[in-house]
Order: sequence, then C-alpha cells, then structure tokens
Amino acid sequence: MEDRHGHAISYLRVSITDRCNERCAYCMPGELHEWLPREGILTFEETQRIIRIGAELGVSKLRITGGEPLTRRGVLDLVRALPAIPGIRDIGISTNGTLLARETESGVTMAAALRQAGVQSINISLDTLDRHFYSQITGRDFHAAVLAGIDAAIDASFEQIKLNAVLMRGRNEDQLQPLIEFAAERKLILRFIELMPVSTTEVLSDENFMSILHARRLIESHYGSLIPEPSFRTNGPATYYQIPGRDQRIGFIGAMTNLHFCESCNKLRLTCDGKLRPCLGSALEFDIMKPLRAGASDDDLRQFFLDVVDRKPQQHDFRDNYQPGRKMIAIGG
Ligand code: 5AD
Ligand code: SF4
Repeated sequence: MEDRHGHAISYLRVSITDRCNERCAYCMPGELHEWLPREGILTFEETQRIIRIGAELGVSKLRITGGEPLTRRGVLDLVRALPAIPGIRDIGISTNGTLLARETESGVTMAAALRQAGVQSINISLDTLDRHFYSQITGRDFHAAVLAGIDAAIDASFEQIKLNAVLMRGRNEDQLQPLIEFAAERKLILRFIELMPVSTTEVLSDENFMSILHARRLIESHYGSLIPEPSFRTNGPATYYQIPGRDQRIGFIGAMTNLHFCESCNKLRLTCDGKLRPCLGSALEFDIMKPLRAGASDDDLRQFFLDVVDRKPQQHDFRDNYQPGRKMIAIGG
C-alpha cells in the first residue's frame, strides 16, 4: 500500500480499548471520562479480521495500544492470535507499565505472558523518577508498580524495550538526567516526546511545552554533544543519538518542531471503536466497523483500506491547528 505522497504503509497501530487505569494530565485528566459502551468496541474477531486484511495489503508490523491495552480483558488471547496472521512479522505493545508485573493465570507475570504470546517489543511510559511528580502527572500513585513492571519486562527478555518520557516544561525538566541514568543502568532505549495537542486539557499550553531542541540542550550541557545516529531507526519517527563516551542510545520524537516528522510515516491507526485513521494529527477517520458489521466481503474491506490510505495527508496539521478534537486515549498514541 502506498499513498499519494510516497508513504509505503507497513505499520498498523491497533488500539484495543479507550480505558485506562491512569489519568495522565496530557491524555485524559479528570474522572469524568465517558467510556465507550462495550458494543461500540471491536471484538477480538473483528480486530483480527481487520489486521488480516491490512496484512494482505502489506502491513507487517503491529503495535497494540489503548488507552491502556492491558486493562482489556482477555488481551493475551488477542495477542496470541496475532503471530499466526500471514504477513505479520513484528508485534509490539505500548503500555503505561503498571500491570506488567502482575501475575497472570498461568503463574507468570503479564510481561512474560506477552513475550510468550509473541510480542517482540514493548514501549513503557515513564515521565519521571520522582514518585510525587509521577502521581501528579498520571493522577495515580502507581510509580512503584511501573518500576516493578519495567523489571518484569527486562526479566521477560523482549527483543526491545523502550521507555517513553513526555517532555513538560516545569514538570520534568530536572528529570532528563535521572531518566538517562535509569535507562543506562538497565540498557534500555529512552525517548523524549514532545507534548502533542491531542487532548482536551489545559496542560497543552505554551508554558508547558518543551521542545526536543530544548531537551537536547539541557542534556548536552551535562553529557556533551550527542552523536547523531541517522541510520538507526525503529518503526517510528524518532531520531536517535548516542551519549558520548558510553554505549547508550536516546531518541527524540519531535512531532511539533521537527519539520520532517511525517516524511517517512508508514502508519495507519485502528481505533478501538473501529475507525481507521490515516494520521494521528489529522481529524480524518473512516468507520470500518460499519461495513464490517453490515457483512462486507474481504474485497470490500480491502478496498476500504486502500481508500483510507489514499486519503492519508502529506503531513499532520498540529502546527496549523492546535485545536485538539478527539482525545489521545481514544486514538491510541
Ligand atoms: N503528547 C505526547 N505524548 C502523549 N502520550 C499520551 N498523550 C500524549 C500527548 N498529549 C504518550 C504516552 C505514551 C504514548 C502511548 O503516548 O506518554 O508514552
Ligand atoms: Fe493512560 Fe497512557 Fe493516557 Fe496516561 S497516557 S492516561 S497511561 S492511556
């Protein structure tokens, strides 16, 4: 699948729930969140069928997201079915980490069960090492659970573990160095992410925004000039650097300030309520649940996919349009 702008689409991010056990200030603050009704959520069978159609059209990489994907009941059943879908070679999951150390029915941790189910890479959110600030940012006192979750993920031997920290001026500026040291001790890839306008909250203001350039300057003032690694890429639009004098890689995701951010975009998103979104930063979305439930054939669904890809914009419109509509929680990072 290729769009009008030369983006080859090989990566599908699949949100399996809009629910979360945390309330991050930049994602879904407050307690008055209205969850989608259950019948409005794709069943696992439906989700798998859409993934299969995508895979027939060239999708080879999947990332399971939410909300918090590990809050969806039966998540392991869904994940176990994914490696058998022809064409799927790479399965990742993005999680807040709070449930990774929890014991599953088979007696192993959730992290180990995901690994056994065929998940290769895991991204865990960690914005701060300060428990007090963690609670302030996420609305929950789950810092210890996340740290245990990270340990569980390390024990589970994923091929790749990444830590994601959302940059917020005044909230975690002083955390860049502690996070770098934390990642170094555990040999994990750490990535700093610019705050994106994908929520309906006052946190998304200019005062809270910290650019990746600002973060890099702060880091370089301590560690010296970072060494660019233009040839290292994961699935996403992060740019990577080595810390001088040690074997440590850190990444920056500058959705707001990196003007080349969208150039190599290979993604489509499937929301948990059955919308295909060609771009996180654009309001465009197409309801694939409707034809699916109305009895569409595989051919119809393939055409649906191709039509969505055809509407993929050249780049997101965050910069021109700082007007958050649908919440991040409902799109799936
Ligand atoms: N801006 C940037 N990143 C965000 N995330 C959630 N909301 C936002 C936002 N407004 C991040 C989470 C997690 C990933 C799934 O998305 O911290 O790392
Ligand atoms: Fe939950 Fe992740 Fe959103 Fe935080 S950013 S509220 S952990 S879905």
